[in-house]
Amino acid sequence: MKLSVVILAAGKGTRMRSNLPKVVHPVAGRPMLSHVVDTARSLKPDSIIVVHGYGGDTVKAVVDGDDIIWVEQAEQLGTGHALAQALASVDDHTTLLVLYGDVPLIQAQTLKQLLRFCDDRSIALLSCELQDPDGYGRIIRDADDQVLAIVEHKDASLEQLAVGEINTGIMAIPARYFRSTYARIDAANAQQEYYLTDIIALAVADGVPVYASVIDDEEEILGVNDRVQLATVERYYQERAAWRAMIDGATLVDPSRVDIRGSLSVGRDAVIDINVIFEGEVSLADGVHIGANCIIKDSIIGSHSHVDSHSVLDNSIIGEDCHIGPFARLRPGTVLKNKAKIGNFVETKNAEIGAGSKVNHLSYVGDAELGSEVNVGAGTITCNYDGANKHKTIIGDNAFIGSNTALVAPLTIGKDATIGAGSTINKDAPEGELTLTRAKQSTLRGWQRPLKKKQK
Ligand code: UD1
Ligand code: CA
Repeated sequence: MKLSVVILAAGKGTRMRSNLPKVVHPVAGRPMLSHVVDTARSLKPDSIIVVHGYGGDTVKAVVDGDDIIWVEQAEQLGTGHALAQALASVDDHTTLLVLYGDVPLIQAQTLKQLLRFCDDRSIALLSCELQDPDGYGRIIRDADDQVLAIVEHKDASLEQLAVGEINTGIMAIPARYFRSTYARIDAANAQQEYYLTDIIALAVADGVPVYASVIDDEEEILGVNDRVQLATVERYYQERAAWRAMIDGATLVDPSRVDIRGSLSVGRDAVIDINVIFEGEVSLADGVHIGANCIIKDSIIGSHSHVDSHSVLDNSIIGEDCHIGPFARLRPGTVLKNKAKIGNFVETKNAEIGAGSKVNHLSYVGDAELGSEVNVGAGTITCNYDGANKHKTIIGDNAFIGSNTALVAPLTIGKDATIGAGSTINKDAPEGELTLTRAKQSTLRGWQRPLKKKQK
């Protein structure tokens, strides 16, 4: 049997009270639908079909999905009707695995187990025992524990409402059976919708076996209908991500105060202080320390480097034993070689800082290439932009740039050169020499400060 994952995502999500389609609201910084698509991909199915409706173009624009078959459900007439829209894209030798775009935490492992209960002549569904089953469809079983039907909350009798076992919505159905049976599903129910769940009672009547696999972890199957549930799902996701980082060998000073929006890989004995946000792909080698309140995005940090509090790194590559911050801002294209130091209120962009070089205070280094053991004094600015184009500054090994220097690019400072403090350098400075621009200092002897006029 081929496997086709069908993700139902056409609903508007009225309870979100949003102008955005529900499934593009982010969980861990990415549209919730993207999480479901990733999980679907990890099953290596023959196809992934997303049934979209409300805000379809917005959904397609934000979900990366060259491999997705997008199927439109123009009117939201129910989950059965939604699944029927996918039928044109699959043949009869296919198992349909139905997922929901608004149930983003479902795990591939759970789905693989569920698929083992479904073959070309049986249906498998995922159920869960809930303390509070309110709102969900209930699994109705007979005295022998065989599944008989799913009854929606709005259609359930008092006796049925007392059932704690609910339908997660996740189901595996042979396409051939669904194709031949769909016409028998009607909309004679409280919501006047074509319920996918009606297939269960029909299957039982037809003698098609139905298996319900009960999942213990209710966090995995939580759906997002409003922003409160969105926040709950986000916390579950974060707890899991923090747990993974700790299992991999990082110390999280408080695992409830770290946010991982993407993938974080950690070496042994990495230490992450509170209120740190990781975005995109971040890798921390052994012994890296991240101070409180840092934001680190798409960066690689080499072993035993320290990023002190309140620093922001974006698309940067940091070598070993480097020291960054507090209050540093490393913008895209920053590369620090081993033992380099970037201090407080320093901004770098598209800059390579050589081994052992230091930019310790209040500087801007952009479009620059610094050799090793360079010392950049406080308040040094690379003037890389002339209002139209960007230009490069190259500084040789062991150069010393005095404080408050403006380096007007394009510019090359030779190795071992010294630049006097307060200079504006717009011509190349030769290696090994002192270069400076500076108005002569003078003293006016006997000069008096003005005095305040006496009030009459
Ligand atoms: C559904 C199930 C219910 C289950 C619950 C689990 C049905 C009839 N009910 O109820 O048994 O307990 O999920 O969360 O299946 N969708 C479409 N097109 C539509 C209708 C829905 O694509 O016409 C999509 C929605 O975008 C959503 C999913 O299907 O992703 C579920 O729809 P929703 O209306 O939220 O169903 P529930 O009433 O929650
Ligand atoms: Ca729902």
